[in-house]
Amino acid sequence: MKRILFLLAFVSLTFLPLASCSADPLPLDPEEKEEHEKEQEQGKKEKPEKTGSRTLLVWYSFTGNSAAIAAALRSHITVDALEIKPAIEGLDYSANNYAIGSSLIAAIRGNPSEASSYPTIKEVEIEFDEYDTVIIVTPLWWSQMAAPMQSFLFRYGGDMAGKTIGLIVTSASSGISGVEQDAKRLIPQGNILAESLWIRSAEVSDAPGLTSAWYDRLFTSNNDNTSMKVTITAGGKAFTADIEDSETGRAFLDKLPLTLDMSELNGNEKYCYGLSLPRNDRHFDRLEAGDLMLYSGNCIVLFYGAAGGYSYTRIGKITDTAGLASSLGSGNVSVKFERH
Ligand SMILES: Cc1cc2nc3c(=O)[nH]c(=O)nc-3n(C[C@H](O)[C@H](O)[C@H](O)COP(=O)(O)O)c2cc1C
Repeated sequence: MKRILFLLAFVSLTFLPLASCSADPLPLDPEEKEEHEKEQEQGKKEKPEKTGSRTLLVWYSFTGNSAAIAAALRSHITVDALEIKPAIEGLDYSANNYAIGSSLIAAIRGNPSEASSYPTIKEVEIEFDEYDTVIIVTPLWWSQMAAPMQSFLFRYGGDMAGKTIGLIVTSASSGISGVEQDAKRLIPQGNILAESLWIRSAEVSDAPGLTSAWYDRLFTSNNDNTSMKVTITAGGKAFTADIEDSETGRAFLDKLPLTLDMSELNGNEKYCYGLSLPRNDRHFDRLEAGDLMLYSGNCIVLFYGAAGGYSYTRIGKITDTAGLASSLGSGNVSVKFERH
């Protein structure tokens, strides 16, 4: 009996403190706890994929059409991008003759000014100051904007005051005027562009052409009709680049035409110091072939392979990079930049 008691005492003294030590971290004081919870909460929030662009693309998609449309636009232009996701995953909005989708739309129609009418979406964190333009890609549900995108705009439409808003809507066949009305109601102070883009489900395979034509028509020409495109010629081949409608982009256009003797670096970029332009640097995790960047305010960099990790200001981007690497070659190269 004595031996058993001794064993029990030994086990409790030896292992219990250890067990409680690993289960209970040191208690945090209330301030630390709040900070810790905030960090955890922020970690869970969906944030835009950053490129340094002043345009934010936001999409919601149930069956993949809006996702394909957003991807098509992203292959044409460099934008920050964020997918809106319902808080409850895996719901089938079209089952039982669209029962869930219909009831979500009916709830919003019944009381559009009440937050509880809108389905919950995953928390997002967006620095709206970083954007001048927001492009929204959404499906149509019962002639209205799909409910999860309405939830997003109900919460953040006020933060889009004064921003340029582009709207792309996909439906099976219904016209999109109800969705345009929803956008006006939910972003009352936004400069919503008059020409929305409507892509029917059957046309989604044409999304690359439809989205790039729409975008170029609405966004890439200045009010004074000056083209924001340049031709870049190297190794006898010409490429077209879209120049950012920014202080840096416009200052670059003012310097054209220009021929730069560009040096080779790292097997993925050509660079040339000596042209000073206004800078607004950001850190870029990833750059790709075709990115035309300003480094340290006085160095033009043209990427022909993937790179990243430094701060730049974007000047523009070559839209079709096929043949770019071979035209630039492996050494130093003369590159001509001229207006389209
Ligand atoms: C709940 C629900 C309601 C819909 N209502 C309509 C409608 O009234 N008219 C229409 O033409 N298409 C309607 N659709 C079809 C979608 O608008 C169309 O398939 C769209 O391309 C889907 O985009 P997504 O794949 O990004 O979700 C509806 C789809 C769902 C899920």
